[in-house]
Amino acid sequence: MKILIIGFKGMLGSELVEVFQGGHELVLWDKAQIDITKRDDVMSKIGELLPDVVINAAAYTAVDKAESEKDLVYKVNGCAVGFLSTICKEINALFIHFSTDYVFDGQSQNGYRENHKYAPINMYGKSKALGEKMILDIEPRYYLIRTSWLFGKHGNNFVETMMRLFQEKKELKVVNDQFGSPTYAKDLAEQTKDLIESGKPYGIYHITNSNFCSWYVFAQKIFELCEIRPVIKPVASREFPTAAQRPTYSMLVNTKLPQMRSWEDALRDYLLETGRIDKI
Ligand SMILES: NC(=O)c1ccc[n+]([C@@H]2O[C@H](COP(=O)([O-])OP(=O)(O)OC[C@H]3O[C@@H](n4cnc5c(N)ncnc54)[C@H](OP(=O)(O)O)[C@@H]3O)[C@@H](O)[C@H]2O)c1
Repeated sequence: MKILIIGFKGMLGSELVEVFQGGHELVLWDKAQIDITKRDDVMSKIGELLPDVVINAAAYTAVDKAESEKDLVYKVNGCAVGFLSTICKEINALFIHFSTDYVFDGQSQNGYRENHKYAPINMYGKSKALGEKMILDIEPRYYLIRTSWLFGKHGNNFVETMMRLFQEKKELKVVNDQFGSPTYAKDLAEQTKDLIESGKPYGIYHITNSNFCSWYVFAQKIFELCEIRPVIKPVASREFPTAAQRPTYSMLVNTKLPQMRSWEDALRDYLLETGRIDKI
């Protein structure tokens, strides 16, 4: 298959490249090759390339900054997804798009199934929900994959932030009243490949590592695995005011695919691969 990956330099995009390399004809684009907010470019460049599969890993992901950049975040995460859906439908390409737990309000302690109603509470979540609606309205052949709390080797993420703060501060305070499933970008990329090759019905899928935790428990596990012992205190979200409000419960319930390994096992693998811990 000819597979176009857009956003190949991002955290998830880089892992997708590694997973898809070898077996398929890959075309890799990022901002330098295409600005997905430009409709004419999207239509002509992809129309000329004629890929069998378009994987969109490009997005505006700065959740707090999004509160003050409404136009841009809506263009990238909303309208551009409409352009990509349109061209995929026109050339009959399979469209793979990623979305987020932030399309929900975070009030459901039981988590969110694939068909739960959107109720985003911040600008990023609203823009991602708009992107989702574009796909459902335009109806290309699609897999719309929601995921959460990504960490990976090629981007800023919570694990790296904790390691940096450990160097900089004597005492760390970490939020203990937001819950979600940390997800290794490598595992998500592999599961995405399996989904594409599975021939499963088109639609919405939830892909995260198994189990969930708070940011505080996530941080504790990082330090425990690295055998370092900072002073780390659980705090409430209200002690960390941010521009964007975050959902309290972000667990994405997966009713359609095999469960992936636990986030704890995935984290151990990530720490091994980044040289933070040694093999036992
Ligand atoms: N990170 C998370 O915790 C998380 C959680 C849930 C869902 N997701 C979703 O997972 C997907 C991948 O996220 P990620 O964290 O891997 O993203 P990322 O690391 O921020 O990468 C996004 C990529 O898209 C590119 N891009 C941005 N605007 C573009 C445009 N107009 N045209 C072309 N390329 C553009 C970026 O280029 P520049 O860097 O040059 O801007 C970057 O290379 C996204 O759909 C995101 O919403 C992420």
